[in-house]
Amino acid sequence: MNHKLILRYMRPADIPQVVIIDNQSFNPPWSARSYAYEVGESSYSHMVVLEDGTSVQPTNGWRRWLQRWSDHPGAVLGYGGLWYIAGEGHISTIAAHPDYRGQGYGEILLAAMIHRAITLQAEYIVLEVRVSNAVAQNLYGKYEFQIFGTKPNYYRLDNEDAYDMRLDLTDEAMLARFEQRFAAIKARQPFTDQYSMLTSPKHSQE
Ligand SMILES: CC(C)(COP(=O)(O)OP(=O)(O)OC[C@H]1O[C@@H](n2cnc3c(N)ncnc32)[C@H](O)[C@@H]1OP(=O)(O)O)[C@@H](O)C(=O)NCCC(=O)NCCS
Repeated sequence: MNHKLILRYMRPADIPQVVIIDNQSFNPPWSARSYAYEVGESSYSHMVVLEDGTSVQPTNGWRRWLQRWSDHPGAVLGYGGLWYIAGEGHISTIAAHPDYRGQGYGEILLAAMIHRAITLQAEYIVLEVRVSNAVAQNLYGKYEFQIFGTKPNYYRLDNEDAYDMRLDLTDEAMLARFEQRFAAIKARQPFTDQYSMLTSPKHSQE
């Protein structure tokens, strides 16, 4: 199925769908309260969703009005979280809906958060990933994140170690390759981008 993709800041109305995906993706998952804080209160947090806009295409004026009034979002295909503090970007979370994995959506979300970090003038991005999570490591490796070290017993529930991965955003050659990759994924799977290139610090489109 062809989805009409919209990349935008996460809104409170997205949280129920995000929490369902989160529960299917992480152990332990984040709570709805944590997402509400990230979306509504934290000034460091830049939460993103990839929405299937197909399901919210208004057919006439009153439907469009109703949709705006109710803030009823389309299906969330995936989401991510970026913290930006004093030159450091931190990918806090990323997940694609389990029914739609392997279709390029996780890559769009990661690339969008890298682009958002560049727009915010971050010097580097860090993230933690389970040492057993080869799929996510492949994705990060594709975007030139490197393993910087290991954090022993980082995941408290089962004591699994995390790799500390980093991407240097001051490397001009890497930035040029990144721009090419970002352009290529947009060409392959066009999406409306209301997130990665915003010049204001946060949620200006709302
Ligand atoms: C990690 C995750 C976000 C990837 O999203 P996705 O939409 O399935 O991935 P994409 O289709 O965009 O694939 C992008 C890249 O990821 C890697 N990848 C994706 N699926 C893979 C698989 N089954 N095996 C190995 N690598 C895989 C590849 O590098 C791929 O690039 P390629 O297509 O050029 O080979 C998704 O698997 C997920 O939500 N996992 C559960 C949550 C999670 O582990 N998050 C990371 C926490 S650190």
